[in-house]
Amino acid sequence: MSCVVAIGAQWGDEGKAKMIDYFTPGSDIIVRYQGGANAGHTVVVKDKKYVFHLIPSGILHKGKICIIGNGVVLDPDQLSKEVDSLKDERLDVKSRLLISDSAHLILPYHKAMDEALEEFRSNKIGTTNRGIGPCYSDKCMRIGIRAGDVMNMDLLREKLDFSLKIKNLQLEKIHGKPTFKFDDIMDIIERFKDNFGDMIKNTQGYLHNAVRDGKKILLEGAQGYALDIDHGTYPYVTSSNPTIGGALLGTGLNSFNVTEVVGITKAYITRVGEGPFPTEDKGEEGERLRLNGREFGATTGRPRRCGWFDVELLKQSCSINGITSIALTKLDILQGFEKIKVSTGYKIDGKKVAYFPSSILNRVEPVYEELEGWDEDVTKCRKFSDLPKNARKYVNFLEKSIGVKIKILSVGPSRENTFEKKG
Ligand code: GDP
Ligand code: IMO
Ligand code: MG
Repeated sequence: MSCVVAIGAQWGDEGKAKMIDYFTPGSDIIVRYQGGANAGHTVVVKDKKYVFHLIPSGILHKGKICIIGNGVVLDPDQLSKEVDSLKDERLDVKSRLLISDSAHLILPYHKAMDEALEEFRSNKIGTTNRGIGPCYSDKCMRIGIRAGDVMNMDLLREKLDFSLKIKNLQLEKIHGKPTFKFDDIMDIIERFKDNFGDMIKNTQGYLHNAVRDGKKILLEGAQGYALDIDHGTYPYVTSSNPTIGGALLGTGLNSFNVTEVVGITKAYITRVGEGPFPTEDKGEEGERLRLNGREFGATTGRPRRCGWFDVELLKQSCSINGITSIALTKLDILQGFEKIKVSTGYKIDGKKVAYFPSSILNRVEPVYEELEGWDEDVTKCRKFSDLPKNARKYVNFLEKSIGVKIKILSVGPSRENTFEKKG
């Protein structure tokens, strides 16, 4: 048996889905463990682009079981849309998709509350407005509705009645927003039960049986280390734990089950939404990274903020997650830059700090080193020695600075633009 966890090592959008798609042939079961439809996970197969928000990115491989784990917050309408969008692919999605009975449901009032709260705040977070924060808040307040609640509709009605009373009061009295009708929400839940009721399982038990049977499990993270509610740049974070702890909590697997933790890392860095970003480049070069890298959100279409590789962030990400190897993506996007900057440390008030100070990140100044760039197109490279000398130097420099092996390189969006570094 093996259990590989693929975690976003930066601020999300590192190319996790592309790597999940690459790892899937060697896996039996692929599990999303946290987040919800705030995620936008892109897989490119030949000339076709698929964007997943809830369904694990391994679904394109026939015969693989895909699980929406207990740590995910699930929007029933989004799930229907996603399953429908795969209808013409003959992938037999419904027989291969399992939903944890403990996954919480995102309902329209969560999305309304997300919007209302953003409007209300003076310091906006720039959420995806997918209802993520309000749904996780309900989970913690113990007033959420879970997928497994559809097994007992009478009890579910009681739970919804209570929850909705609170939500409607908040929406109306605090935010002056329209309220929701009980029957309209029940319609959504009934539809979810009709469409997906058969797939709802105790997935924790299923996964432990799979471990006993020697199956190969792949855990798919959403978002990334620096968006983690505990370890990220709070409050400019998401409301879950994309880091390793979230992978265990969000599946029911334990730390002894995990055999490998792969940190998915862009060769530069991006961030969507508000919050501190020390290596952001607001000038021409940042704009060039955005255009070359097509850095526009896969969920909201917002332009991603772009900047230079941040070694200190990566080092901390490796420590927090126990990253055993790195998959470095989007190396091709750096083609044509005369010089490539790498932040190898920070200063605060002129003094060096040798860690990632997430709570005062807005005060740090990055300390840059500049490496020589390259002009050659690397998308056709299929082994490390195919890369131009300066690209190899860049990768080796990152590896040495981070102190963790870069095992896989990605030099384009498609499956074939991927190879093991070796040596
Ligand atoms: P995720 O959220 O981490 O799965 O990443 P996204 O799908 O939001 O964003 C990554 C984007 O980069 C997608 O459009 C991918 O198709 C694309 N991508 C992934 N790896 C590479 C690569 O090595 N080179 C290029 N050019 N694009 C890549
Ligand atoms: P994937 O899985 C990048 C960001 C939002 C916002 C903050 C909080 O595709 O990497 P939320 O809606 O979660 O309450 O928003 O988190 N964010 C992401 N940024 N990639 C993501 O997912 C993200 N999911 C949320 O932009 O700043
Ligand atoms: Mg994304």
